[in-house]
Amino acid sequence: MYTPDYKVNIIDVPEVDSTNAYIMAHAEELPDFTFFSAQKQTAGKGRVGRCWVSPDCDNLYATFLLKSWPFPAYQATWLASLALQSVFKEMTPHVATWIKWPNDILVRNQKLVGILAESKVLKSGTSIIALGMGVNLNLSKTEAEKITPPPTSLRIECENARIFPQNSESYKINRKIFAEKLVFSLMRVYFKASSFGVDTIFQEWRHQNALIGRTVSFALPNGKSTKGVVRDVTFEGDILIENGDGVQAYQCGDIHLDKSSLI
Ligand code: BTN
Repeated sequence: MYTPDYKVNIIDVPEVDSTNAYIMAHAEELPDFTFFSAQKQTAGKGRVGRCWVSPDCDNLYATFLLKSWPFPAYQATWLASLALQSVFKEMTPHVATWIKWPNDILVRNQKLVGILAESKVLKSGTSIIALGMGVNLNLSKTEAEKITPPPTSLRIECENARIFPQNSESYKINRKIFAEKLVFSLMRVYFKASSFGVDTIFQEWRHQNALIGRTVSFALPNGKSTKGVVRDVTFEGDILIENGDGVQAYQCGDIHLDKSSLI
């Protein structure tokens, strides 16, 4: 694959309000492909105005600045999901992670990653994307239980699997190595999308979207909810759910898996 020479500007800080907020505020002066991470966030942002609990526990809270992404922001979440999935497969191949529409990565029914892509237009007229990723690398069981619903982490999953007959400390995921691999992986998927078209990464993302065919409850932003079978996810970013009224397309909302449909 064509991978032109590129430079990634990597910044890691002990604390920030939100890595997304920082990138959005400094996008004018920061170079393309800035990877900005923090050990701790004091006001981590989640989807639809929620907060992302971000304790100092060797998790990864990072935002990747794309100043030359020629596609809509929601399609950048495919880039993040695929890049992360590839690092998970390399570093923790025994942990069965799956992609959940619109922007999560889960293990069973518990959240491992949340992705938040934001965009804005610079003075020059260029659109930029702040591609935020909250990755639970080393969140402990105690910290996880303080969050509703409790998420999981790679460390918790490795401890549960007891793959290595060692003490608990050895299940710790090396945050620096993970971040380095993630930067490489993001660039690889970025070049794939920009060289061969975003459809190539859409097909891969769709393939890894394990919701298709499953029965779910779907909570709409207006507070209503519906139940049905997921028929597909589309290039336009919709999810197609079949219920008694036929197949409906939804742009946003929260999916809850039925117990009988657990992965
Ligand atoms: C979600 O699932 O609601 C999306 C969560 C996104 C969290 C990440 S953590 C790094 C980046 N900075 C933020 O403030 N949010 C994103």
